[in-house]
Amino acid sequence: MGYGFTQNEFEADVIVVNTCAVREHAEMRVLGNVGALNHTKKAKPEQIIAVCGCMVQQEHMTEKIKKSYPIVDLVFGPHELWRFPELLLDVMTRHKRVFATARDDGAVTEGIPLRRDGKVKAWLSIMYGCNNFCTYCIVPYVRGRERSRLPEDILAEARQLVAAGYKDITLLGQNVNSYGKDLDSETDFADLIRMVNDIPGDFLIRFMTSHPKDATEKLFRTMAECEKCAHQLHLPVQAGNDRILKAMNRHYDREKYLTQVQLARQYMPDLVLTTDIIVGFPGETEEEFEETISLCEEVRFDAMFTFIYSKRVGTPAASMPDPFTREEKQKHFDRLTEVANRISGEKHAAYIGTHQRVLIDGETGRDEYNLSARTNGGRLVHLKGEAELIGQFRNVVITGGNTWALYGEVE
Ligand code: 5AD
Ligand code: SF4
Repeated sequence: MGYGFTQNEFEADVIVVNTCAVREHAEMRVLGNVGALNHTKKAKPEQIIAVCGCMVQQEHMTEKIKKSYPIVDLVFGPHELWRFPELLLDVMTRHKRVFATARDDGAVTEGIPLRRDGKVKAWLSIMYGCNNFCTYCIVPYVRGRERSRLPEDILAEARQLVAAGYKDITLLGQNVNSYGKDLDSETDFADLIRMVNDIPGDFLIRFMTSHPKDATEKLFRTMAECEKCAHQLHLPVQAGNDRILKAMNRHYDREKYLTQVQLARQYMPDLVLTTDIIVGFPGETEEEFEETISLCEEVRFDAMFTFIYSKRVGTPAASMPDPFTREEKQKHFDRLTEVANRISGEKHAAYIGTHQRVLIDGETGRDEYNLSARTNGGRLVHLKGEAELIGQFRNVVITGGNTWALYGEVE
């Protein structure tokens, strides 16, 4: 429509606030940020303010915005993204507020222009939605059912990315392991990795997220065999206790998870393994939490993303008894963070003195160690060097490491 971009909210003709609904904290920040736009709208009354994304796909949120945030002119959910220009035109020509949050699952829309930040790493969506209905999670309600993009569309985009010089492509979906199950084609996720791997060029393939219930041996074998596929797996376990896993509707138990990890490591001894964990799921006892700690000690994840359970309106867990206090949950959370940090630190220390092939992907903004890079497994490395190295694979020797990052020298 001829618009450009600005980072200055007082200058913008249109402000689009994109949102997440996974946890309450992010929603509170969105509402705070939207509230703050009162100032910009006052200074520039013709400014159009739009709020989009998963948060507004929840009815109670749309209602809240309708009633309490009159400065918002346009609200649209994830299924309506492709209609954005039309909706914007509606706001401009009809001079009334527009709320577009259709309740259907949405189609797979192809050909929407994309603007990517950076020239080295790219996200590539391969599917949308989720069918898993983990009892704590809002995603299946706001993103609808699983819909896979066609392999040829994904491959065409991957080829374009490689031709444009991207070196690190992350295949993206809520549960990539169920890729293709909704299509007529025989292609499953492992096949898709192989097809992307066959594209000529020097680049890495990563992917997110894998559900442990349907990560297969074929996937691990394919990862091991495809030379462009990073030996990196994000496999969210969520909890270490079987009663909690069942109450979460995760469809695996502790033992099955541990077996998956063992199998993946058998195929890729250098695998970098990360996970997500929820602390304080309704009714989680001290003993049950201890099983999460013991699982983490047993698996020794390279990194863990830990969250305190956040109640989501309309999910089954929201109506489960939740007798433990925020303070008790916080204590568990702090303890888990300590364990996670210690293990990450130990794992990073073991890199010291090793040689790694890394992709240099950007600048850190600091004088010493001015460049950032990633190992094949996705660990962050800080380096010294010229900015022209950005976008290149280089061999480095690792000279230091802490909980968060490795430090190295280009060889
Ligand atoms: N509360 C806390 N964490 C959650 N996640 C998803 N839903 C919730 C919730 N209601 C976490 C899970 C998931 C990650 C993306 O966010 O760990 O893997
Ligand atoms: Fe949410 Fe579970 Fe789907 Fe992940 S798999 S998006 S946690 S419902």
